[in-house]
Amino acid sequence: MCGIVGVIGNNKTTDILLNGLEKLEYRGYDSAGIYVNNQNGKDFLVKEVGKISKLENAVTEDVQGLVGIGHTRWATHGTPTIENAHPHFSEDNRFYLVHNGVLTNFEELKTKYLGDVNFSSQTDTEVAVQLVDHFAKNGLDGEAAFRKALSLIEGSYAFAMVDKEQPDRIFVAKNKSPLLIGLGDGFNVICSDAMAMLDQTHQFVEIEDGEVVILKKGSVEISKLDGTPVKRDSYTVDLDASDISKGTYEHYMLKEIDEQPNVMRKISQNYLKTDGSIDVEPALLEEMKKADRLYIVAAGTSYHAGLVGQNIFEQVADIPVDVELGSEFGYHMPKLSKHPFFIFLSQSGETADSRQVLVKVNELKLPSLTITNVPNSTLSREATFTMELLAGPEIAVASTKAYTAQIAVEAVLAKALGMAKNLEDAKKFDVKKQLALAANGIQTIVDEKAAIKKLTAEFLTDQKDAFYIGRGIDYALSLEAALKLKEISYIHAEGFAAGELKHGTIALIEQNTPVIAYVNDGVGASHTRGNIQEVKARGAHVLVIASQKYAEAGDQIIIPEIDELISPIISVVPAQLIAYYASLARGNDVDKPRNLAKSVTVE
Ligand code: F6R
Repeated sequence: MCGIVGVIGNNKTTDILLNGLEKLEYRGYDSAGIYVNNQNGKDFLVKEVGKISKLENAVTEDVQGLVGIGHTRWATHGTPTIENAHPHFSEDNRFYLVHNGVLTNFEELKTKYLGDVNFSSQTDTEVAVQLVDHFAKNGLDGEAAFRKALSLIEGSYAFAMVDKEQPDRIFVAKNKSPLLIGLGDGFNVICSDAMAMLDQTHQFVEIEDGEVVILKKGSVEISKLDGTPVKRDSYTVDLDASDISKGTYEHYMLKEIDEQPNVMRKISQNYLKTDGSIDVEPALLEEMKKADRLYIVAAGTSYHAGLVGQNIFEQVADIPVDVELGSEFGYHMPKLSKHPFFIFLSQSGETADSRQVLVKVNELKLPSLTITNVPNSTLSREATFTMELLAGPEIAVASTKAYTAQIAVEAVLAKALGMAKNLEDAKKFDVKKQLALAANGIQTIVDEKAAIKKLTAEFLTDQKDAFYIGRGIDYALSLEAALKLKEISYIHAEGFAAGELKHGTIALIEQNTPVIAYVNDGVGASHTRGNIQEVKARGAHVLVIASQKYAEAGDQIIIPEIDELISPIISVVPAQLIAYYASLARGNDVDKPRNLAKSVTVE
């Protein structure tokens, strides 16, 4: 959510900033801007509303320098306008600053310190840069003014700031929002996500909350807010710039849907050894064995993957599971069980709603595991244990392969835990075979793209509402299927427990209302068939997605063989493709749907 880049000591500053912003565009794309300074008295500020391509067109050849910062915005305070776009600057044009996060006490600071200042935007960020300027005007040097402002600011932030009077450095600080330093050859960079700078370097240095960094061409000085120096080694990000290219695909989303069979194989190869052992940290299993309840905490699609995981853990590892939305749980924490164990599911590893729960869990000294696609992400660093999703970078804003990878890794972990407990149900659950079936089953579905595209055009594209229904595991799946459809096609969609429709929502069924019914859940299959008849009788256009075992003549999409417990790994794929083709046909920006951002780093 919002992207930050910065570079110092490279004469291709503008190109590096724009290239980095393009890579981060999926994190927010309401508006964007760069500030570049040639360290010789000349500087440039360019901002545009809309996509990075608009900013690129607005940047003229003369915008060149040796230090610069850039930002792509997902609006929190203030509408997407040029004035509200970053970088923000102080009244006297001395300080330029980009920010990711939300400042919670900006109104208070404004009233207390900045009564005489003429603000040019409605953002919380501008308060930060004007505050630095205020302290500089009162006699502090740039660094001291920056530290003083930080000591007063509350909320989440990743800041990068240039002081025109000292353009040989970038001032950097972070609290709760992600930010990394990248070490180039003779220059240094900043980014809110390593992906932005992989063309420049693979060596990165983490910054922790409450730290300040003075970044120069040849040095990285990290210190605590009170000035105490901090030493930290760099680490290598093992990703290739080609991992984040679209290749021959028109959209990342379709590429990522198609990658799912390989993701299943990778998870299997990585965790399930040929000798039958499972490569899960023994200390993690020991800790989980002590637990009397698992709490899975997540948001959005990851939450839906948690709902699927709940069944898997309960049945394979014989442990009760609560699945919780981070945005609710952190603030309304119920009475916990005696020995809780927390699992944080997060593609990005940066979701602020989940992180605030982890902060509380750590305060309570409770054990936790983060399952994430991004090693070294905040949630991964701060949890007791980490397991990787191994899905490769997910760039499309609508999550696809991370969802299926999350279910697969949950299945691996449930099997490992069940085996560690010597449970019969765990012995019967052949996770290796199931992941192989998942890979082949997904392949069968993605090979039917043309048919799914045609079906979508026939019954859905022009509709304003749609309903996904199912029971048990299919209910959890319906929630994800509906989310996928609404977020990229903008068709209003809801996922329902099939039996609940008749308790109210059936009133919305009209002639041709699309209802997509899942029939993979054995226990609920016959009842769901009854619910299908009920909506058909009221005019609904019904599409049935059924497993081979429960399929009937006339069902349109058949799900290949797989254990019901992890069947959403395959049966979500038609829904991903339906959402993709509906969005495409409606002329939407599939990879960057309106109002959304990939990584939600504000609460
Ligand atoms: C939907 C989607 C979001 C994320 C949610 C959590 O397609 O991508 O709902 O699942 O914002 O993000 P992570 O998994 O990064 O914590």
